[in-house]
Amino acid sequence: MATKSILDELDMEYAGALGDYVARGGEAALEQAYEVGRRALSEKLAILDMVAIHHRVLAALLRRSATREENIQLVAKAGEFLAESLSPFEMTHRAFMEANLALSRLNEILEEENKRIAHALHDEAGQLLAAVHISLEDLARGLPPSARERLQGVRKLLDQIEEQLRHLSHELRPTILDDLGIVPALEFLAEGVSKRTKQHITVEAFKGERLPAPVETALYRIVQEGLHNVTKHAKATEVKIRIERTDGQVICSVRDNGVGFDSSGLPSRSDEQGLGLIGMRERLNALGGTFEIRTGPGSGTDLEIKVPLER
Ligand SMILES: Nc1ncnc2c1ncn2[C@@H]1O[C@H](COP(=O)(O)OP(=O)(O)OP(=O)(O)O)[C@@H](O)[C@H]1O
Ligand SMILES: [Mg+2]
Repeated sequence: MATKSILDELDMEYAGALGDYVARGGEAALEQAYEVGRRALSEKLAILDMVAIHHRVLAALLRRSATREENIQLVAKAGEFLAESLSPFEMTHRAFMEANLALSRLNEILEEENKRIAHALHDEAGQLLAAVHISLEDLARGLPPSARERLQGVRKLLDQIEEQLRHLSHELRPTILDDLGIVPALEFLAEGVSKRTKQHITVEAFKGERLPAPVETALYRIVQEGLHNVTKHAKATEVKIRIERTDGQVICSVRDNGVGFDSSGLPSRSDEQGLGLIGMRERLNALGGTFEIRTGPGSGTDLEIKVPLER
């Protein structure tokens, strides 16, 4: 929020430069308009603040002008001046859109990479474990019955490892997400996390059509990080995942009954902070979505994600 003195200074700069432009026209005065816009942007003013400055200054100038023709000319010149002063905002907006596009591409590349690692984990680790099974079988043949029994215990452990690896590789890039969509994928994820962490996790979901693929991928990754946070920080026993689709948007929430936290100032970039919430925000930015966290020490955490569907 800009202080009153900064707003006053910008009002004065804007009034002086607009006065110049109305009186003499020319590039130099327009450059001043650009400069005022740039300064306003660096003071973190919003476009609406600029429009308010413009209105204040223009109203004062109109009070001073004498004839209707003068008024018309003044308003036209002031319009040109306002447009120029907003061009730094326009440039920032474009840079933001380009960064979002780059981010979406990066996410796509990361998803491809996930797919590759998931397949490697699934296929290669699976094959290695199968080879270990065969060797153990060979070994068992030459052993007395008591040792064979102990070996059987080892093989059971190997089976468990195989099952866990299989589940993890599917969570890494769930083919179920591509094949069946977000709801079965979240159910699969919840089941795996629930088994590993002993938390009771339920999924309540809409029935119906698939969502656009980028929305499904983003929601899956965000809920995955949400669950990861619950496991890591919340000490919760119950987790509820809800996903509903309304006319123009999809709303998804992850709610736990854990310890909660003080969320003031989150998420913002700083070195000592984690990347989870920042990653969520970046994924959602690329889709025009948002998230909100309702929490407080001792009162659980409710992460709510909204993604518009019309784009
Ligand atoms: N469900 C939750 N319950 C309690 N605290 C949470 C929960 N979700 C997030 N937090 C708090 O918010 C902080 C920020 O979360 P974030 O996911 O950004 O980082 P992290 O989990 O600490 O690290 P990373 O995600 O990079 O492994 C956490 O450190 C934790 O204090
Ligand atoms: Mg995290």
